[in-house]
This record gives sequence, structure tokens and C-alpha cells, in this order.
Amino acid sequence: MGGEVLLRKVILAPSLLSADPLNIARDIEKIKGEYDWLHIDVMDGHFVPNLAYGPSLVSALKSRHDITSPIDVHLMVEPPENFIDLFLPLKVDYLTIQIESTPHAHRVLQCIRDGGAKCGLAINPGTPVEWVAPLLFLVDMILVMSVNPGFGGQEFIPQVLEKVEWLYRERTVNNLNFLIEMDGGLGLDNIQDVVRHGCDVVVAGNAVFGHEDPAQALKAMRNKIMEVFR
Ligand code: DX5
Ligand code: ZN
Repeated sequence: MGGEVLLRKVILAPSLLSADPLNIARDIEKIKGEYDWLHIDVMDGHFVPNLAYGPSLVSALKSRHDITSPIDVHLMVEPPENFIDLFLPLKVDYLTIQIESTPHAHRVLQCIRDGGAKCGLAINPGTPVEWVAPLLFLVDMILVMSVNPGFGGQEFIPQVLEKVEWLYRERTVNNLNFLIEMDGGLGLDNIQDVVRHGCDVVVAGNAVFGHEDPAQALKAMRNKIMEVFR
């Protein structure tokens, strides 16, 4: 990947799914100064077999003066077209839909853009990465799922790294500028591999909030990333 890699900034996005639900604000305070974005998982019990956060949490985060980092909302809901209007008025920064959740991904991404947010497209581990090819010119971010969505604390699926390589190549060849995000089972053991393959945004839930010192966990990840670029 040559010299340009040295200039890449890797974004760390802790997932609040693994925070203590009774102490989310306290858990965010614990990682102050160590994170770049906050990743919020929205689950409908239909597209994925679990229920999680909704617009009320996003709205509460947005109303806090001490939380100024970008809010990265990952919609695991079906169909996403029924939900985006709940989030766009809240001025979320990134709104990501799953490609498997709608036959109208192009339209939904366009609506997200028109609504003023950056649009992301997520792909499950079992979905061929080529499915996103016709949409690469439109998206601000591709989210490569490295576990099957629905739960935190699952094991990383290493085969998805090939998808990152493909995306990195497509981006370079076609002179595009979407970010490549990865989500699921990420931590100190695999973060260097993930970054070497070309990921720009690393989501981590359990590795951060499951650690006795979440700030320290993020610092350790940042150090691992720096070693890659040294
Ligand atoms: C899984 C979610 C993830 C989850 C990641 O469906 O999309 O964002 O919080 O958690 P870890 O890092 O514990 O795998
Ligand atoms: Zn997620």
C-alpha cells in the first residue's frame, strides 16, 4: 500500500452496545479523550435476533455538551426506509444500513444523503462484497461486518479481510473516497491485521467496555495501530 498508508488516520469507534446500560454516560466519560466516534447499534428483533438502542439514546447523546464526537449509527433493521426519518432529524453524522435489509439500497442511501447525514452500507460476513459495487460511487462508508450482526462479544471471522482488500483496491482504481469500517470481534489480537488490510474505522465493543479500564484498552489499541505505521 506504499507511502500513502503513512498518512492514514485510523478512527476508533467504541460500540455502546457493550457499555453498562444503566451507566452509559459514565462509561463514555471513562473513555474521554481516547475515542474518535461513538458507534450506536440499532436492532429490531427482526433483521437481527436482538433488540437494542433507538433514537431516544441518540437524541440524549446529541443534547450533551460534553459529547462532541461524531455519532455513527448502525441500523440493523428491516426495512431501513421505515426508520431513517427517526434518526435524520437528530443530525447523526453517519447513518449506515445493511445491504441485505432492503431491495432499495440505492434509494435509501440517497435519502440519507438528502437528509444531511453521511451514508454507510454494511455487508454481512455471508454476503459477497461485489454486491456493493454499483453503490460505491454513492456511499461515504462501507461497513464490513466481521461477525454476524446481533450481539457483542462474538468471535472475529478472519475471511472478511479479503473484502477489505477488494474495497481498498476498488477505491484506489476508481479514485473514490469512501471510508472502510469493520465491526465485530475486534481487539488487540487482530487490530493490526485489520488496519494493514486497509480499514479506516475500527469498531470495538467488548474489547473496550469489557475491559476493567476502557481508556487503557483504547490507548493500547492506538499503540498497536501506531506500530503498523512505524
Ligand atoms: C454487532 C454490532 C457491533 C457490536 C460489536 O452486531 O454491530 O457493533 O457492538 O461488539 P464487539 O466488538 O464486542 O464484537
Ligand atoms: Zn455495529
